[in-house]
Amino acid sequence: MDKIRIRGNRPLSGKIAIGGAKNAALPLMMASLLTDATLTLANIPYLADITTSANLLIQHGVSVKWRGFRAKAGPEGRSVELTADTISSTEAPYDLVRKMRASVLVLGPLLARCREARVSLPGGCAIGTRPVDLHIKGLERLGAEIDLAGGYIQARAPHGLKGAEIVFPQVSVGATENLLMAASLAEGETVLVNAAREPEVVDLANCLVAMGAQIEGIGSDRVKITGVERLHGANHSIIPDRIETGTYLMAAAITGGDVELLNTLYEPIAAVARILEGAGVEVTTTETGIRVRRENGRLLGVDVMTEPFPGFPTDLQAQMMALMATAEGAAMITETIFENRFMHVPELCRMGANINVHGASAMVRGVGQLTGAPVMATDLRASVSLVLAGLAAKGETIINRVYHLDRGYERLEDKLSACGAEIERLGDGSE
Ligand code: UD1
Repeated sequence: MDKIRIRGNRPLSGKIAIGGAKNAALPLMMASLLTDATLTLANIPYLADITTSANLLIQHGVSVKWRGFRAKAGPEGRSVELTADTISSTEAPYDLVRKMRASVLVLGPLLARCREARVSLPGGCAIGTRPVDLHIKGLERLGAEIDLAGGYIQARAPHGLKGAEIVFPQVSVGATENLLMAASLAEGETVLVNAAREPEVVDLANCLVAMGAQIEGIGSDRVKITGVERLHGANHSIIPDRIETGTYLMAAAITGGDVELLNTLYEPIAAVARILEGAGVEVTTTETGIRVRRENGRLLGVDVMTEPFPGFPTDLQAQMMALMATAEGAAMITETIFENRFMHVPELCRMGANINVHGASAMVRGVGQLTGAPVMATDLRASVSLVLAGLAAKGETIINRVYHLDRGYERLEDKLSACGAEIERLGDGSE
């Protein structure tokens, strides 16, 4: 099993290109099931979750063609062509779904197009129980008959789906995406109330419109979809990854570096940039991207609460905690989206951080300097928070179980090494 070794305490300096957003790419790939024509997605990142999604689609009968990967063109030059002209299976098996929760996003499209679907329940996961009840209740409102049996969601809509008003009791990115896709092919009008407004949801809605869907209120919490009989193909370029962007902003900040992030946008991470500015980090836009700098200034503790977009994203909470562990003063970090998303805390404490968790909040008392240690990655964002801590720490940090990183960060070691980090992957061939 691969490990990452970092010799830290050196500032990052240089440029980092940001890839297409993983969390936009996954639902966009599933949207290919809605049409028999070809959906081409450009700026596709090369990540383990993308391969898992492709394998899932292939077993549903979708033809998947990768373009531009050999040319080493970088994500902008790459695309994937997805053609679901015939759907040979409406079942998403446990073996694939367990690898990636987002597999449940095939449920809405399959049900809308084929009037039936059998999708394995994703089950629990490291960051809490993460149920899919909102997806199921929403699809039932559209007239689907759904049973849970043998660990599977069995859904049928023999007479097709019918538009309805769906009021989400809680904001859910995945449920909003599943319902957007299903409602696009339902009969009549669907209104989603308290819909998620994340940029990835907006990207999906824009692509659906390019495929012929009728959607109003995109980017607001009240979205109206008027179903159409058929959708057609489209060419769509995936938005830049705001979580990868935020992660490298914090990597530069934690090392006291000066980095320009290319191929990305400021607006989706505006809330994060404002928090970082409060912590003494300079974040400015340039003609080609975003520049982040903390050359001499002190890093100050600031309080952070995760919230649905446009608030501070839960997917940057662990990275922010690593940053705050090295600040002057205290920071209260409150996680409101997921229960049990503090698994990085004991690992950061092994590196000298002073963090106490009380329920959904963590009190981080900055210690200035962390020290390298062997640590264990537990999930995608927790893993990268340990990379950030390692970059700032004195001495050597070895991060075990780094396969989590490959689900969300493309060529992480290369991107950081190019900015002066001493980071390398060690394969020891063992489990
Ligand atoms: C997506 C992102 C993930 C991010 C999360 C929140 C993808 C592939 N993943 O996950 O990286 O951390 O949004 O921004 O885009 N919930 C229910 N019932 C449901 C669905 C959700 O109770 O049926 C709860 C969840 O347990 C959680 C909250 O709602 O507490 C938000 O989850 P949700 O927005 O659905 O997250 P995902 O779409 O799974």
